Amino acid sequence: MATSKKIKTIGVLTGGGDCPGLNAVIRAVVKTAYGHYGMEVLGIRDGFEGLIHGKQHIMKLTPDAVRGILPRGGTILGTTNRGNPFAFVPAGSKAKPKNMSRAAIANFKELGLDALVVIGGDGSLGIGLDFFKLGLPVVGIPKTIDNDLSATDYTFGFNTAVNTATEAIDKLHTTAESHHRIMFLEVMGRNAGWIAMESGISGGADIILIPEIPFDIKTVCRRVEARSRHGRMFSIAVVAEGAKPLGGKEVYADETARRLGGISHSIARDVAKLTGHETRVTVLGHVQRGGSPSAFDRLLGTRFGAAAVKLVADRQFGRMVCLRGMNIESVTLEQATGVLKTVPPDGELVRAARDVGITLGDPDRD
Ligand code: F6P
Repeated sequence: MATSKKIKTIGVLTGGGDCPGLNAVIRAVVKTAYGHYGMEVLGIRDGFEGLIHGKQHIMKLTPDAVRGILPRGGTILGTTNRGNPFAFVPAGSKAKPKNMSRAAIANFKELGLDALVVIGGDGSLGIGLDFFKLGLPVVGIPKTIDNDLSATDYTFGFNTAVNTATEAIDKLHTTAESHHRIMFLEVMGRNAGWIAMESGISGGADIILIPEIPFDIKTVCRRVEARSRHGRMFSIAVVAEGAKPLGGKEVYADETARRLGGISHSIARDVAKLTGHETRVTVLGHVQRGGSPSAFDRLLGTRFGAAAVKLVADRQFGRMVCLRGMNIESVTLEQATGVLKTVPPDGELVRAARDVGITLGDPDRD
């Protein structure tokens, strides 16, 4: 399908969970496409689901349409975690998944699109790769607050989430100290503990529990008791939602939907029982995904958006833009998907945390 005719119109969609900075990317795609390359942009609503439905899910994106969206959280295009055209199940339906990829490709052609920019995490970029293999000219832009895509040093949205979690830790500190309580803050991070690590260190937590380092509840209690022996009657623990005890499992808020959540409640109960200290839990949840993007995320999103349009103009399809050190580069969609970037248990970040006295909950290190 990728011919050498001039690129006139590109489609752009946002897939998977939203995050701060998506609108900065959309704005940069539109401004670069129109201003620099003279291309038109069509926005596809609600991720790949919009491509299945076609015309009624399309919005024309002109520079006027994206005016003022740089500081806005969320995505003006809408998004969904469902809507995989290769295994499509309509919202609320219990029907068997159906392959609707042909309908999506037919709509791509009918809309007169010459390229498709997919802004998404591992799942959406994987779908983009499947379409690329079927001949669709796809370019990817990485997105996730979890920062767990291996091909890029940072994804936009992560920095804002870390700032939100750090602010929450600052607030918990004052009330923890007043009431002599042990406070547990549960943050997002399904398979990777990046948000917990970076916010925990930035917020001065005493305990950080992440999926990569299974914890021993006795180590957690020892830290709480050691602090109180030294007159520090409160402690702050930051817990990634995917953290699990040694030999144990993650805790799900909804097992069927595989939605994590609630591990900090059981840890807090155990710590209260074993130490006699009063405990409280805050589950930060989707607050981390909302709100205005930080300057870092606006900048990274803008650079990604502009670079993605350049890839399109250069016909570098099947690739995803990424950040390597200080530079925006690109990798193939194959390299971009499938490998998670988790926190190295013996890496510098964990070492720095241990050096400043934070426990990671593992028994043999504390
Ligand atoms: O992958 C991003 C993420 O925010 C995870 O950290 C979290 O587990 C999940 O999405 C929540 O998804 P949902 O918005 O479907 O509840």
